[in-house]
Amino acid sequence: MTSLNTVPALDCRYRPKWHYAARRNWLNDPNGLVYSNGVYHLFYQHNPHGDGWGNMSWGHATSTDLLSWDEQPVAIPCDEQEAIFSGSAVVDTHNTSGFGVGGAAPLVAIYTSAYSPASPVAGRQAQSLAYSTDDGATWTKYAGNPVLDRASANFRDPKVFRYDGDAGSYWVMAAVEAEDREVVLYKSADLLTWQYLSSFGPANATGGVWECPDLFELPVDGNAGDTRWVLVVNLNPGGIAGGSAGQYFVGTFDGVTFRSESTVTGGMQTDGSRMREYGWLDWGRDYYAAVSFSNAPDGRRLMVGWMNNWQYAAATPSQGWRSAMSLVREVRLERHAGRPVLVQAPVDPFADSGTELFAAGPELPADPTPPTDGVRWLPPEASGEVLRIDAEFRPGASGTVGLVLRAGQACGVQERTVLAYSSLSGELSLDRTASGNVGFHEDFPSVERVPVALQDGLLRLTVFLDRCSVEVFAQDGLVTLTDQIFPAESSTAVGLLAEGDGATLVSLSVTG
Ligand code: FRU
Repeated sequence: MTSLNTVPALDCRYRPKWHYAARRNWLNDPNGLVYSNGVYHLFYQHNPHGDGWGNMSWGHATSTDLLSWDEQPVAIPCDEQEAIFSGSAVVDTHNTSGFGVGGAAPLVAIYTSAYSPASPVAGRQAQSLAYSTDDGATWTKYAGNPVLDRASANFRDPKVFRYDGDAGSYWVMAAVEAEDREVVLYKSADLLTWQYLSSFGPANATGGVWECPDLFELPVDGNAGDTRWVLVVNLNPGGIAGGSAGQYFVGTFDGVTFRSESTVTGGMQTDGSRMREYGWLDWGRDYYAAVSFSNAPDGRRLMVGWMNNWQYAAATPSQGWRSAMSLVREVRLERHAGRPVLVQAPVDPFADSGTELFAAGPELPADPTPPTDGVRWLPPEASGEVLRIDAEFRPGASGTVGLVLRAGQACGVQERTVLAYSSLSGELSLDRTASGNVGFHEDFPSVERVPVALQDGLLRLTVFLDRCSVEVFAQDGLVTLTDQIFPAESSTAVGLLAEGDGATLVSLSVTG
């Protein structure tokens, strides 16, 4: 008998509401993030033919609000010679590349050609261009590809931006020599020919290959006269929570060289005890390959990460589609304890359409059921799969406060994801060991931990729950924690956790 259907059935059980996932098939890194003519373009590593990694091509989605995305046809497909690995896109406003027609600015994508076994340079990685003269709808590969080839097997993930500063005005590319833990910088007048500038690394976290870099300038505390450059370096494995993660350096860039002011000296590279001193984009397991939008309006620096981890990405329990992006996050530099650090705020899905389901504090309404295990359950109207929860605690000197999320009974088993702050350790932890389906990979059940300093004795938490994720923004985005979870649909309860003496609730709000 002939099988008629080779496409896997689509199981939408964990499909997120507010996080972009391809309608069908596999997705990893965000690519080519660019804003043009009122539209945000999200390209991404995509397998158009299956729900596992392979046939790497650039998928495409567009949005005007960074929250609802319209999937577009595959933008840059792989062919027999090359896979289309990660990269970036720019609006070539002055048509420096010459790809524009009729005076219109072309969009130019700079991607990594990962040459296939069929290619004469099989195994090599080099940088190539594709361009669009219809605002991203269709793409043509440049006939002169590649434009930058170091005869390397691990040279990838170009992020291109326009530098306008004391050294002149030109395009700059940040890419990686992944195995060398090096970011390499090049400059160009026309995107077609590139000249070497400098290298950065190895530094700080080097327990895995360096991938997907980004380099951008931000004001410190909103002061345009006091800026720093942020160099983002994703690494895999060797992240703070295990596996894939993003680190960042803060420093200066003079148009040629990036100089880090946040390199931890004396404990570099393999000394895990210094890991907590490095700059981390996120302290969870599922925020990787994060890079920023080019050309975003109002000088905003908007980042997106792939909400997954190479440790277990191939095994996450979905079918017909796999993996989602994080919420889009605006990042800013703020000085804390004397040092400029990144602070992140998500584009909030509930800002316009949310309804407050429950509010309390400092007093909680009388509860007929006594707390169990230190957990005070919120009423049913404060539950759900897709929620924003804002909580402010005064943890006091001893004990634990926090939130119990996505709690319920599934097939007789108690499920819960626990976000807890311990006054004794000064750590915020996210425990997904009993979060639901955790058995699909041995590396999945985990507890993430991050030191959090109280501010005037207060802990502020903002949590975004979607069908298969938890994103935590603590202390107004000074610390973020992102993890996937796969609970039963029926596990929707929210609880308040309080153990020990002296802890008080200041305020609590649940929005759905
Ligand atoms: C990061 C990465 C990139 C590469 C792409 C391939 O997750 O490994 O370095 O370009 O994914 O899909």
